[in-house]
This record gives sequence, structure tokens and C-alpha cells, in this order.
Amino acid sequence: MKTNNVSRRQFIAATSAGAIGAMITPKISTFGKAKRVTDNLALLGGDPVRKTDWMAWPIWDTDAEDPVLSVLRSGKWYREWGTQVAEFEKKYAEVIGTKRALATASGTTALETALHVLGVDAGDEVIVSPYTFIATYNVVFNQKALPVFADTDQETFTINPHKIEERITERTKAILPVHILGLPCDMNRINAIAKKHNLVVIEDACQAWLAEYDGKKCGNLGDLGCFSFQNSKHLPSGEGGAVTGNNDDIMDLCHSYHNCGRPYGKTRNEYRGYPFRGGNKRMMEIQAVILMNQMERIYADADKRLENALYLDSKLKEIPGIIPYKLSDGATRSAYHLYPFRYKKEHFDGLPREKFLQALSAEGIPCSGGYGPQYNDGLMEEALNSQGYKRLFSAQRLDAYREELKNLPDNDQLTKEAVWFFQNMLLAEKKDMDDIINAVQKIYENRKQLM
Ligand SMILES: Cc1ncc(COP(=O)(O)O)c(C=O)c1O
Repeated sequence: MKTNNVSRRQFIAATSAGAIGAMITPKISTFGKAKRVTDNLALLGGDPVRKTDWMAWPIWDTDAEDPVLSVLRSGKWYREWGTQVAEFEKKYAEVIGTKRALATASGTTALETALHVLGVDAGDEVIVSPYTFIATYNVVFNQKALPVFADTDQETFTINPHKIEERITERTKAILPVHILGLPCDMNRINAIAKKHNLVVIEDACQAWLAEYDGKKCGNLGDLGCFSFQNSKHLPSGEGGAVTGNNDDIMDLCHSYHNCGRPYGKTRNEYRGYPFRGGNKRMMEIQAVILMNQMERIYADADKRLENALYLDSKLKEIPGIIPYKLSDGATRSAYHLYPFRYKKEHFDGLPREKFLQALSAEGIPCSGGYGPQYNDGLMEEALNSQGYKRLFSAQRLDAYREELKNLPDNDQLTKEAVWFFQNMLLAEKKDMDDIINAVQKIYENRKQLM
């Protein structure tokens, strides 16, 4: 197996705003148990805790090159002419534990397919977590529905189930919980609310391959699950996605929708031509070959990430002001697409998070502050002021909606305090985790230098 490394400098440039200071003769002191590091912060010209590269992502396996070439040379790149996508779908359903899986062009198109097939229509409302990648907002808007945010639970980073019912109206059609960063949502509570109010549940599992709730995989916990296989993901093919589910009729309709509305499965006997709305949301054969090869490593990678994340939890929580994520009630395993914690600046003498992130990057630890309060970025007003939304929703509803956007205090706070590490870092060894721990500890102990 071939791996390629990216330089630490390139990685930091790509992932965070950190700057690496020039090196000066180090003063030695001891941090944590793992190793000796300098106490001059790298951001101020000291020696960084870590000077070596982190693993590049994705990891390409040369064994996959022949199968890719073979599909390339066959000219059968379209799923209807080959067998690779269908084979991948079978394997992926086995991984998630669902009866069926449908491969799509992306996680976005998987979500659009699920929303359409489960009946989310123009003028409907969908309850969703505000703490997510922007695609989760956009797919609801693409259905001409309203993404209604229930506040985030700061401890779990996921939707707070206790904040859902107050946001349900007569227009609410679905709940779209997001297993963000690979952390499973509290699905028992969410499913109970959905049942009580006759709503469908679509899981955005686009960051949650192999995450588990109550021993079941994310993507097998609601009416449909949606995944992304974009380049940065744990199961990557550049672009790609999947819908997972257990109901054949619904999955047949998903297939039709993603294939220009052509009948599929049972409906093939009932209809001719193009009886359904739909579009082209198909995956290519070569993507499926790449995915089947990448699937060979996902279990071992997931175990490694878990082991390292638990180690980080155990050490980072000892540092004042660092609060690692907590799993939701019932969650049994996270996928750790990102490793998150909350940074409480009051324990760092008020050192702003941005400065903390810069200092951490300078120590050789790539990091990010994660999602902002994206509902303040202009997207919401752009949608609400459109002709379509003015036609579909009363002015009164849209005004009330604007007020709801101002009432997400936990999410607002989380966007100010979150710190993420990247999944590829969790594939390294325990000594590399010690670099992370030592860097955070070093900044804590030397925080006054940065004031
Ligand atoms: C939570 C979440 N939802 C949806 C998506 C959309 O997936 P894609 O980029 O494959 O369209 C992503 C992708 O990053 C995501 O992280």
C-alpha cells in the first residue's frame, strides 16, 4: 500500500489560519507525561511541539489501479452499462445493515432524493440542526421548503431533541438530524417525536460512516439515511453519495428519482416511459470501483480513530478550559470525522479562540474553529426574499422564522467555542496524539505570553 505525505506547512495552509514562527534556541521544560517540549510558544518564535508531517488523505491503494483501468478501458462508465455501481450498493447496504443502498452523485443529491421521495414538498417545513455543513440547509431550500432550526446541544454538538417540539408547526413534514462530525444524534428521542407528530426522519449521515446508536449503524435509524463520499470523507471517491433504507417501495422510488424518473423495481411492471419526476443523480462506474477498494480499510481506520479519540478525551479533559464532546444518550460509537472539543477562554485568561487556534497551528497541530452561525451569512434572507418563498409562506410566518433564527443561543455559543482536529490525524499513533496533548498543555501553561 502506498501512502503519500503532505508537508505540515501545506496542511496548515490548507486547513487553518496558523502561522509558524521562526525557530529560536529552545528552553526545555516538561509537559504532560509523553515528552519534553519547549515552553517558548512557536507562535512567538519558539520550537514547535511537532515538526513532522501528518498523514495525507485519501490513501490510495495500488491494488485498485488494475480494476480502475479495466473499467476505463471497457468504455462502460455509465452504471446502466456496467455492474460496479450495483455491486457497490449491495456491499454498502451490508456495511450499514440496511436492506438496500442507492449510490448517488453526492451526499447533496442523496439528501435531495430522500427529501423528495419522502414527500417534502414546496411550502413544507423541515426541522434541522443548525450545526452542520451548509448542504443540509441548501437541500431543504432546493425543495422550496423551510429549514427550521432546533437549537444545538452544546455538549454533544448535535440537535437538542428537547428543542424540537417547540419548532413543529402544521407545515412540518420531516426531521433531518445530522450526525455531525460523526457524532450520532439522540435518535430514540428524535424518532419518538417523529412518531408522535407523524413526521418522517431522514438522517444526514454524510459524516458518519460506521457510527452507531444503540448498536445500529447511523443511516439505519430513520426512514432513510444519506451519506457522502466526497474526497475528504472516510470512504472517498472524489464525489459520491448514497441513500440507505429498508423499504423496497421507497428505495425503488429513490432509484427512479435519481435516474430521470424512469420506473425501477416493482414500478417497472406498472408503468412505461417516464411516469415520475426525477433527475440525473447517478454515480459513475469508476467511482464505485474506487469505493469498493476504499471499503477495505474502513473498519481498521474506524478502530484506530476511536482508540486515538478516546485517548485524547482522557488527556485533554484534564486541561482546564478544554471540554471534549460528549456522546448523545444512546450513542454507542462515533465515527470521528472531526475530533471536537469546546475551548473555554475564561480558563485561558480570556485568550481568544482565534489566537488559541493560531498558537496550536504554529505548534504543528492543524485545527479549525469549525462552523460559524451560517444562518447570519445572507443565505436565509436571499431565500426568504425570493418570489417563491413569498408565494409559499405568509409574511407572518417568515417574520416569525426570522425571529427563530435569532433564538439559537446554544448554537451561537458553540460556534464561538468549538475546536476541531481532522480525521487523518486520528489515524496516527499514540505518540502523535501526545503531540496534540502537549501542544494544548503548552499553550495553556504559557497563555500569558499571548496576552
Ligand atoms: C453534514 C453534511 N451533509 C451533507 C454534505 C453534502 O455532501 P456532498 O459534498 O457529497 O454533496 C456534507 C459534505 O460535506 C456534509 O458534511
